[in-house]
Amino acid sequence: KIIILDFGSQTTQLIARRLRELDTFCEILPYNKFPQDDKEVIGVILAGSPYSVYDPEAFKVDLTQFLGRLPVLGICYGAQFISYNNGGNVEPAGSREYGRQNLTTINKECPLFRGFDNNSQVWMSHGDTITAIPTGSEVVASTETVENAAYYCPDATLMGSYDGHQPVMGVQFHPEVFHSVQGTQLLKNFVVDICGGRQDWSADNYIETTVKELKEQIGNDRVILGLSGGVDSSVAAVLLNRAIGNQLTCIFVDHGMLRKNEFSQVMEDYKVLGLNVIGVDASEKFFADLAGVTDPEQKRKIIGRDFVEVFNAEAKKITDAKWLAQGTIYPDRIESLNITGKVIKSHHNVGGLPEEMHLSLCEPLKWLFKDEVRRVGRSLGMPEHLITRHPFPGPGLAVRILGDITPERVRVLQDADDIFIRGLRDYKVKLSGDEARRVLAAGVPAEMTDGEIEVSLYDQVWQAGAVLLATVRSVGVMGDERTYEHPVALRAVTSTDAMTADWAHLPYDFMAKVSTEIINKVKGVNRVCYDISSKPPATIEWE
Ligand code: XMP
Repeated sequence: KIIILDFGSQTTQLIARRLRELDTFCEILPYNKFPQDDKEVIGVILAGSPYSVYDPEAFKVDLTQFLGRLPVLGICYGAQFISYNNGGNVEPAGSREYGRQNLTTINKECPLFRGFDNNSQVWMSHGDTITAIPTGSEVVASTETVENAAYYCPDATLMGSYDGHQPVMGVQFHPEVFHSVQGTQLLKNFVVDICGGRQDWSADNYIETTVKELKEQIGNDRVILGLSGGVDSSVAAVLLNRAIGNQLTCIFVDHGMLRKNEFSQVMEDYKVLGLNVIGVDASEKFFADLAGVTDPEQKRKIIGRDFVEVFNAEAKKITDAKWLAQGTIYPDRIESLNITGKVIKSHHNVGGLPEEMHLSLCEPLKWLFKDEVRRVGRSLGMPEHLITRHPFPGPGLAVRILGDITPERVRVLQDADDIFIRGLRDYKVKLSGDEARRVLAAGVPAEMTDGEIEVSLYDQVWQAGAVLLATVRSVGVMGDERTYEHPVALRAVTSTDAMTADWAHLPYDFMAKVSTEIINKVKGVNRVCYDISSKPPATIEWE
């Protein structure tokens, strides 16, 4: 595996994603947690950082842990750090170098740039520049304004007193971002050719080895799993079911704020999949505890607390359980360097279980990204509508009702949301070129005919839903009657990881149809708006 050391840059996760797209295995670790005793590490990537290498508080890593012993690639800050500490120099750039640039000279003999096209476009984003490259290395790529855009040193002992002869290299640009057109090629050159990485990840392999490991780990014990109806917990359940069959008991709590008919439909899906599921309708308790509460954080806290209470009461009935399984996936776990330390929203999933239950944690998807979870789900034969489900927040529609929550408001929102979501599923669009490739790469099953694919708007967006602005009323007219009711805001976003998102540019004819249908059919709503804010500065959910 490849270790990616994190120095706090927002693009670190993207490096991991690109490597996973190459079907190679990698792990992101904080810059000061290099696993020195891990024999499976075959290469190291030092990622970007918001700091300058010469800042007193900059994150510093002890390069002797791996330089020379393993091939090392520095990206942006990583490249600068290696340079700064090995006879090179880094200084503030005259102006911030940001955006698209072309590599005007490339040394294609260099293993890192094998297969590159002339003038290949790269993405720069840095305030510092490498004014002198490390001792023993040579410049292997430049742009018009950045002389030292990439350097390569074939043997670390040329650079300093390192223990081993492996190569060291650095790039000032960001190969991991989409706008670096041959960035994946560069990462492939590093991981596969230079480090000798095997491209052997496949969903079937993953299922086979994970099922075997789960059988060994769990033996004859009983396992409890909290299901949410979402992709991750559902795939985890089906995977565990394959490994240990009826030793698995799943618990699905209905807090009353799921989508329209979702609880019964998902229970039915689970039955067909052969899962042993206890469905708990606890909506009355949640509604009672939420009555009159308007503060978003307060709502989240109450729902989190009630959820744990209800889940635990059920879990305790399974007296011989030894394991708690969760659908945790890799992005949930990455030990990110939290530089600002501020809580924006407290996300709640399954909270802590009482200690006296003595359960051990089992997380069969903990190394996977979302699209890999979907690939595993498909290989397990799960129905497509379960696999392509949009993410949905744990507190459900509660964080999509501004103001206090009542069963009636939830019903109004469920109806509006249902019209929107069904509309997205029914509206098909034709895509070609890059757009089509992007959708196919995400695993959406669509046939390419004459260079085009047909997909639904639902599959084209990352997430969508309706928001009830219950704190707002506006005047309308229906027939001859004056109305004074709440607006509904529709939200649909495109994203790859929910960290950043853009509002989806939905077709006007689609929006017109949905708007008319909501206002005509949903009593209590007389106005429909579309949210055109990106994240940041907005967030995906309104609360
Ligand atoms: P925000 O609103 O923070 O949402 O931009 C990012 C992603 O997280 C989902 N979300 C949640 N998921 N529990 C969850 O499991 C929560 O409390 C929660 N709040 C937001 C949101 O739907 C989006 O996909």
